Amino acid sequence: MLTLNFANMMEEVIGPNGTNDKAIETLRAKTPEIHADIIGRKRNELEFMGLPDQDTAEVKKLGGEVRGESDAFLLLGIGGSALGPRAVLEALSPLHNLREVPKVFIYDNVDPRTLRHILSVVDLGKTTVNVISKSGSTAETAAGFMILWDEMKKAVGKDAARRFIATTDPASGNLRKIADDHGMRTLPIEKGIGGRYSVLSPVGLLLAEVIGVDSRELLRGAAEMRSRCSTDDIGKNPAYMFGGLLYLMNVNANRNVNVLIPYADGLKFLSEWFCQLWAESLGKDGKGMTPYPSVGTTDQHSQMQLWMEGPGDKVVTFIRVGEYGADYTIPRVFEEIEGTSYLSGHRLSELIKAEEESSELSLAKRGHPNMTIEVPSIDAYHLGELFQFFEIATAFTGLLMGINPFNQPGVEEGKNFTYGMMGKKGFDAKREEVEKARKDRAGRQA
Ligand code: PA5
Repeated sequence: MLTLNFANMMEEVIGPNGTNDKAIETLRAKTPEIHADIIGRKRNELEFMGLPDQDTAEVKKLGGEVRGESDAFLLLGIGGSALGPRAVLEALSPLHNLREVPKVFIYDNVDPRTLRHILSVVDLGKTTVNVISKSGSTAETAAGFMILWDEMKKAVGKDAARRFIATTDPASGNLRKIADDHGMRTLPIEKGIGGRYSVLSPVGLLLAEVIGVDSRELLRGAAEMRSRCSTDDIGKNPAYMFGGLLYLMNVNANRNVNVLIPYADGLKFLSEWFCQLWAESLGKDGKGMTPYPSVGTTDQHSQMQLWMEGPGDKVVTFIRVGEYGADYTIPRVFEEIEGTSYLSGHRLSELIKAEEESSELSLAKRGHPNMTIEVPSIDAYHLGELFQFFEIATAFTGLLMGINPFNQPGVEEGKNFTYGMMGKKGFDAKREEVEKARKDRAGRQA
């Protein structure tokens, strides 16, 4: 079971930069109303709270089919449609492509070089393409899909549709229409599931099954977290406490940067996933806290100096791992060298844990607020717990901030300019705006 230790957020431990019970009391007053919304799923977008109860039969069936008939699994999607699956892959099957089949490729960015590299190593005739788009209209995913469809037709002709699985809205959108028209296999992203809250839907579960992970374990962990978060007592609700403390630090102490630093390579992409969830959900109305995805111990040798002696604008959350599931004892070699011989006889897990604790302590000693999520081990169950924890925490924080944590109006303008430049019908005015801006800015070049 995941636990949250927030002692280093409190003024009694870190001094005046910390928060106190009185401030936490102010949250207690606001929590019941927000809790009633979340737990009562009073908004459609809170449907992600129901995902732990879903039937996994279809995902398991398709996962089995992919494993049986494919050497490669190519996932097309972006944002919430790619970051969650990548977090699952990296946490639960490290170095996957060196050890396992089907190999997994996630093509999210529309970088042509990446696609060239992927296409140069896969045999399309033995590849399943999972195209994921809730809306079915995201330009990046659509472009990749169109290219892959064309390439697949060239490779396998009339059997092309059989090599695709479309994960999309059950009833509407371009992807749904294309998939139905061509008889592709499909999986649903139900109406109320937003992209960044979708990892525990078929978006992340199919990939889990393809890499040999029982998707029910992810859901079991998520269900456990949901049940722990079914209280409006913030002192007993780890997700509310996490979100609430970050909120207090942001509004009362101007802490604008939210660092997540797991001490595990496998959780690096969980950080990336969390950063999108937090940024896109909460960066609105001039409010928000910039998330920073980190990994320990690596960033002790990259970012820690800034966190210790730079501006006091951050809150750092550590993820400590109880059991790594592997270990090495550092051997008794070079014993005559004092500078390294002190390590001999210790285990690598001891060293990484000591480094994590030292970082917590040094930050606290300098008065920098930090907290620690302790996760017993990195497996599907605990990953499910983590996903659900961060999703509930983000929704709670957004509602506390008085913003809508489920939309992303700020990304529309950029999409519209792109539509204009790419000649989409109805976006001529946007293209003209771009052309004018290009002229106005010409000459400012060094
Ligand atoms: O969280 C979100 O809603 C976004 O990041 C989407 O996941 C992303 O824009 C992709 O959208 P779609 O799944 O509709 O292609």
